[in-house]
Amino acid sequence: MIYAAVMGYGTVGAGVVQVLTMNRDEVKRHTGEEIAVKYVLDLRDFPGSPVEKILTHNYEDILNDPEVRIVVETMGGLRPAYDFTKRALMAGKHVCTSNKELVAEHGVELCRIAAEHQVNYLFEASCGGGIPIIRALNASLTADRIEMVEGILNGTTNYILTSMAEEGKEFDDALREAQKMGYAELHPEADIEGWDACRKIAILSSLAYGQHISYKDVHTVGITEIDAADMTYAKAAGCKIKLIGRSCREEKGVSILVEPMMIGPENQLYSVDGVMNAVFVRGNALGDAMLYGSGAGSLPTASAVCGDVADCAKHLNKTIRTGLTEENASVLPAGNVPGRFFVRMDGDAGKAAVLAGAGGVMRLPEFPEEFAFFSEQMTEEELRTRCAAFGNVRKIIRRG
Ligand code: HSE
Repeated sequence: MIYAAVMGYGTVGAGVVQVLTMNRDEVKRHTGEEIAVKYVLDLRDFPGSPVEKILTHNYEDILNDPEVRIVVETMGGLRPAYDFTKRALMAGKHVCTSNKELVAEHGVELCRIAAEHQVNYLFEASCGGGIPIIRALNASLTADRIEMVEGILNGTTNYILTSMAEEGKEFDDALREAQKMGYAELHPEADIEGWDACRKIAILSSLAYGQHISYKDVHTVGITEIDAADMTYAKAAGCKIKLIGRSCREEKGVSILVEPMMIGPENQLYSVDGVMNAVFVRGNALGDAMLYGSGAGSLPTASAVCGDVADCAKHLNKTIRTGLTEENASVLPAGNVPGRFFVRMDGDAGKAAVLAGAGGVMRLPEFPEEFAFFSEQMTEEELRTRCAAFGNVRKIIRRG
């Protein structure tokens, strides 16, 4: 029997206890040992719940119990998760987490501490919920040189954008529903301002390119400015609006950004709707591959955490290399990432037509006071400078 402890009995923590109980035999089939949860740490009480008898409010119970070999951190946030994780690793306990904030901020250090103490710090659930993208990058694709990573990495915003596009829902209603279903972060700004997706693309890109990319260097735009008119234009153009994280290995460094993008059916991410996430990678040997699955929610995220728990059980006395390194990547300035853009503006449509690509200028009867177009390939800086000569820009959205 291998004993684990779960810190934080929220949406994901409760899912972990449920999966380890419900799939006990499956886990044992893979690890050769039964895994039992000995403690659940939380500030709250859960009278009448299945964890009532193993609940503790005292972290030291877990730290000082030599029988506990694996600690699951599903508390979220930086404090006290950082201190609890660090102390557990230093005490020779493996730690598995879904906490992307902590991995993005301190992952490099925590992996180093884990290696120094011959244990593991595993974080599959930190990116893409239940999608096993981190294990794919760290194990399956280690012989490839990854050139690009692109994904829909936040379930809440994808759920909101899908509801707005398909059901004409207002932003606030769609957000409330995502919160009710347990997808959203405690503070939904992290979802809607793009910070959650930003941390995830920084983690995935660091693994993919073998150099550390700080989430602070990722140019990030959220979805709060997307309105019903943008949705109408997108539909008229046969496109959808998605919050996309994208990074590419360039000659002089890594370009990386998170932005709402207008994408057409030619993009593999076009049909990724609702709470689903997908990550697309391009390797020099593999070519293109995409992983698709539930990006948020209790059981899907718990599935990823429990996969890590099982991996720790299989490697109790060995550190698995995670691919996070101390060496910093050179991140290129976001203003220099060229692309095509969807532009809404008022002013001189005839003159602005010189900026439009083959599609020319769009005019929709619903919005008689403005026009729109898709630009040719250029940087956003260049586009803004050129648009200024023809009128007032209402909105710019990258064409993905
Ligand atoms: N709030 C996150 C999301 C949870 O909506 O994707 C999973 O990381």
